[in-house]
Amino acid sequence: MELEWKSDFETGNEVVDSQHRYFVDLINRIGDTFRSSTDEDYKHKLIIELKKYADFHFTSEENIAISLSIPGVSTHHDRHMELIAEFNHRSEELEKGTKSIDEFLSFLIDWFSGHTFFEDQKLFKHRL
Ligand SMILES: [Fe+2]
Ligand SMILES: [Fe+2]
Repeated sequence: MELEWKSDFETGNEVVDSQHRYFVDLINRIGDTFRSSTDEDYKHKLIIELKKYADFHFTSEENIAISLSIPGVSTHHDRHMELIAEFNHRSEELEKGTKSIDEFLSFLIDWFSGHTFFEDQKLFKHRL
């Protein structure tokens, strides 16, 4: 399972798009590492990195939207909070071993793609 960058992900904002590309790379790095490595510490740190990156990206994306006077940022912020809560729940299941890496990855791919493709696009298309 690999997440490929699609032009459909593009919002037209260069900074947001470059952050989304990093997201895709990180999700794939997690997939590769969980399948090939026995280094539990490193795997745990990758989950932490994704969590921190999501937190950073969501704040950064909201600030970019505010700076462009795009409407609807507070609703978008609420969605970001829900996404973080969902991520925390799913990553706990992975780390407790109640869910497999494949289940976690398929969640991550839907989690990232669904939000980026439907909700980020909608937010930024005001500026296209
Ligand atoms: Fe985003
Ligand atoms: Fe977003």
